[in-house]
Amino acid sequence: MLLNMKEMLNKAKENKYAVAHLNINNLEWARFILEECEANSSPVILGVSEGAARYMGGYDVVACIVKSLIKDLEINIPVALHLDHGSTFEACKSAIDAGFTSVMIDASRFELDENIRITKEVVNYAHPKNVTVEAEIGHVGGEEDGIANELMYAKVDECIIFASETNIDFLAPALGSVHGLYKGEPKLDFERMLEIKEKTNLPLVLHGGTGIPDEMIRKAIECGICKINVNTELQIAWSKAVREFLDANEKVYDPRKIIKSGEVAMKEAIKAKLTLLQSINKK
Ligand code: 13P
Repeated sequence: MLLNMKEMLNKAKENKYAVAHLNINNLEWARFILEECEANSSPVILGVSEGAARYMGGYDVVACIVKSLIKDLEINIPVALHLDHGSTFEACKSAIDAGFTSVMIDASRFELDENIRITKEVVNYAHPKNVTVEAEIGHVGGEEDGIANELMYAKVDECIIFASETNIDFLAPALGSVHGLYKGEPKLDFERMLEIKEKTNLPLVLHGGTGIPDEMIRKAIECGICKINVNTELQIAWSKAVREFLDANEKVYDPRKIIKSGEVAMKEAIKAKLTLLQSINKK
């Protein structure tokens, strides 16, 4: 069932749990994730970066793949198809026009006023089409940062203005997480997270889920996080297994066998995340 994220994340907010956002890169990733989430009766948000959409051929290709997999594999769990870090109004529009049910506009590189202006433009286009909108404030760094510095953290007063002026559905405030692997332990600002949740009353999103210890994920959920984004962790699990398979099977050249050799490891990594989130859900 392809849905937007509204009900999924509002329910998560009410009941203090989080839904997994897992990034897809190709047909097989979408398939492995959908199958594992279905097997665990867990809703899922399929995140697609602009780069991943380009890699797959475009937003229409992605939407067709996901819709067709849901139909042919008889997937019954709630699934959202979400543009991850859309950098412009045009990218968000293309994803929406192709059938994505949710988009993230990430104009966090701009000053607050410009971030608000671009985000509003996306909200005005998305909402009449029943598409939900996530937006970022502060700056979630990349692997080159390894650990967030104070300048990257979202400011509470800016979050309040941003939320009330843009009418977004979900807020991704940068609070110490980075994409990719951390250099040392992440320094999430839980106090600020809770304050932002209370003052904006929006479901919050945690980017850079890879490498955040389970205890911190639990605490983040208590402080208002309703969606956890995970990408690198699945890539590492998959590529390690494929590398081992290729080393052990030098004569194999069938791409189906090669890509599939990462399936079990990737599904195990997905299951571990879902099990963690479900254990919090049951409390
Ligand atoms: P990781 O790659 O660090 O798991 O982050 C994923 C993410 O935040 C996608 O938006």
